[in-house]
Amino acid sequence: KVYRASTTAPVNIAVVKYWGKRDPKLNLPTNSSLSVTLSQADLRTLTTASCSASYPASEGDSLLLNSEASDVSGARTQACFRELRTRRAALEAADSSLPKLSTMPLRLVSENNFPTAAGLASSAAGFAALVRAIANLYELPASPSELSKIARQGSGSACRSLFGGYVAWRMGDAADGGDSMADQVAEAAHWPEMRALVLVASAAKKGVSSTSGMQQTVATSGLFRERIAKVVPQNMAAMEKAIQERDFATFAEVTMRDSNSFHATCADTYPPIFYMNDTSRAAIRAVEQINAAAGRTVAAYTFDAGPNAVIYYLEKDTEAVVGTFYHVLGGEVDGWKSAVVKDLKPTL
Ligand code: DP6
Repeated sequence: KVYRASTTAPVNIAVVKYWGKRDPKLNLPTNSSLSVTLSQADLRTLTTASCSASYPASEGDSLLLNSEASDVSGARTQACFRELRTRRAALEAADSSLPKLSTMPLRLVSENNFPTAAGLASSAAGFAALVRAIANLYELPASPSELSKIARQGSGSACRSLFGGYVAWRMGDAADGGDSMADQVAEAAHWPEMRALVLVASAAKKGVSSTSGMQQTVATSGLFRERIAKVVPQNMAAMEKAIQERDFATFAEVTMRDSNSFHATCADTYPPIFYMNDTSRAAIRAVEQINAAAGRTVAAYTFDAGPNAVIYYLEKDTEAVVGTFYHVLGGEVDGWKSAVVKDLKPTL
């Protein structure tokens, strides 16, 4: 008999960025963060988990990612498997009629509906889907916040992909990470006019991984200390209020300031880390021009650990924002010519 369960998890793009670990082993962050979950129709990972006593034990656990064998021996994937198996084993110990799934090899098959290496937070959707698929297979009575604690150990940002809408990852202060988990600030339906445009400047794999980049920043940047002590706590408070009040101008300003602050700490890292390139900076100038032309803030840019831009805007301003970017992509700015443009809604 083969036991099987499937799930999907969406991509999330932070508007207050996670950057820095206080415990690299448990993936505990130096600051809280906040993100918007994007539409699963456009960007998601679909994962099927199965287990069976007939799967050869010698083959162990396995993961097929976009039809290619992927290594599961890494400490983070192992931590997720271990946490989930321990919880399943506890259920089996309490009820002897349950099949002993916790002792069987796991097979995972995962597919992204977007390019894995495009710098589009694929690890977030990937680990969120992996954890929920196995939790479903094991029939664990775990809440999304409980699952977010497990997904966090796979990749920090993954803990935010267990929820739709507007999601906060509370850094917590417990040494064992028991209070470092995600919660939903507001449902997508609270502010359904929100849209995100993803501009792909380069689909090449990023130079410095987030994991290694943030470690270097924590170790060497003075500006980073200012960021985690003052800038992020202020941005978190202002952002939550802006979302509650559906105040786009504030949402946009905090999003842009926080992205700038994050990339400034990267530049302040020694040796410096540059994720944005000339094409990224052209997108920033385009957003400034769009806002100036509109006479109010209609668009906000944000950049993760790579050159691609995500532009947040409201549905009613689609023409002003997306129309202008299409014009820009039409040939005015080098580098964006081969860009992929997507119009995304937040999901539930
Ligand atoms: C810039 O979650 O990829 O996208 O925990 O080491 O896997 P690890 O890092 P990861 O870092 C994401 C960094 C970011 C900001 C964010 O998503 O909050």
